[in-house]
Amino acid sequence: NSRTPLMVGNWKLNLDHHQAIQLVQKLAWTLGDAKHDYDAVEVVVSPSFTSLRSVQTLVDGDKLGLRYAAQDISAQEKGAYTGEVSAAQLSALGVSYAIIGHSERRQYHAESDALVNAKILAALGADITPIVCVGEALEVRQASEHVAFTLAQVDGALAGLSAEQVAALVIAYEPVWAIGTGEVATPEDAQEIAEAIRARVGELVGADVAAGLRILYGGSVKGDNVAQIMAKPDVDGTLVGGASLVLEQFAAIAGFD
Ligand code: G3H
Repeated sequence: NSRTPLMVGNWKLNLDHHQAIQLVQKLAWTLGDAKHDYDAVEVVVSPSFTSLRSVQTLVDGDKLGLRYAAQDISAQEKGAYTGEVSAAQLSALGVSYAIIGHSERRQYHAESDALVNAKILAALGADITPIVCVGEALEVRQASEHVAFTLAQVDGALAGLSAEQVAALVIAYEPVWAIGTGEVATPEDAQEIAEAIRARVGELVGADVAAGLRILYGGSVKGDNVAQIMAKPDVDGTLVGGASLVLEQFAAIAGFD
């Protein structure tokens, strides 16, 4: 099944590397005790750049089945780009995924669709799977323009990509008004957009790629609402912020079924 459920914990700007190791270790033990089948539900955590090396070395994801994601990635390959972290550097650490174009990057760092597009290409070039984030703000939803707005972000992010390249990425729909607010989109809201994204990807690069594309929902996902969200046919996983910092919550999300 090319659409193996994918649960991603985005820790954002939380936890130093000691705390990160502890949480990954506890998560691995908890899932181990629960005999979690990583082939059935993929589990990814995304610590800060400063923790990636520690978690990778001390909590061997490959052995455990856990995977790691970076929260961002540079569009540049190398050179005079102070503060940037390249795809090759992340790849050398064994990082499997990169979250790209998160609404917080778009909002606080003015990331444009063109930059998101360039970052996707950089990640793919180093065999890192992009988790491309799209989603509308509250005003856009109130104006009932959420579908058009989100699809325009999809168009911008995927501009110029081949079918093969699109097949190698993941899209996460995160309505900005549902992030960290406790305001979860209804499963029907999530399904409406996920279905629209899949249809648009079908128009862009073909129905086969669209049928195999994993689409995540993010925004106030918790242990007690994940099952209803995952029950929707076009939702293949979740991108979890706050609840991913709470061991019991994220373990419950990972074992949603
Ligand atoms: O990347 C994760 C999302 O921004 C969702 O965050 O689960 O705290 O609402 P949240």
